Amino acid sequence: MTSHDVTLEWTDGSTQTIAVDENESILDAAQRAGARLPYDCRKGTCITCVGRLLALEGEEAADESAEGGTERPPDADADAADAFTYRRAPAALTDQEQADGYVLLCIAHPQSDCRIEVGPRVRAEVGDSPWA
Ligand code: FES
Repeated sequence: MTSHDVTLEWTDGSTQTIAVDENESILDAAQRAGARLPYDCRKGTCITCVGRLLALEGEEAADESAEGGTERPPDADADAADAFTYRRAPAALTDQEQADGYVLLCIAHPQSDCRIEVGPRVRAEVGDSPWA
């Protein structure tokens, strides 16, 4: 079974890297690994679990080091769209929010190794759920 390494980054600087199987959500994998993340509906409608894509595999190495790393075009919209698939529609996010890299961790499956910012600051950046 394919899995991807997802590094969760909290705003206090702490990080945790978890292996996410292709058939599980990032939230499920995080809970299995003992990481504490906020959630409520687990259906993609409340926005409580939102995170934000920081980088895909290879991107940081290209940014921070002259050796190695995979050059990626600076096209954040395409990166975010390619980074995740959803088990159901992410109703709580607008198309623009998805294009900006916001992701609902309760229903998202990563398609590559990546780094995701999590925590209340990310939640504060997006508006309330359209279903609230
Ligand atoms: S927990 Fe409600 S959208 Fe993820």
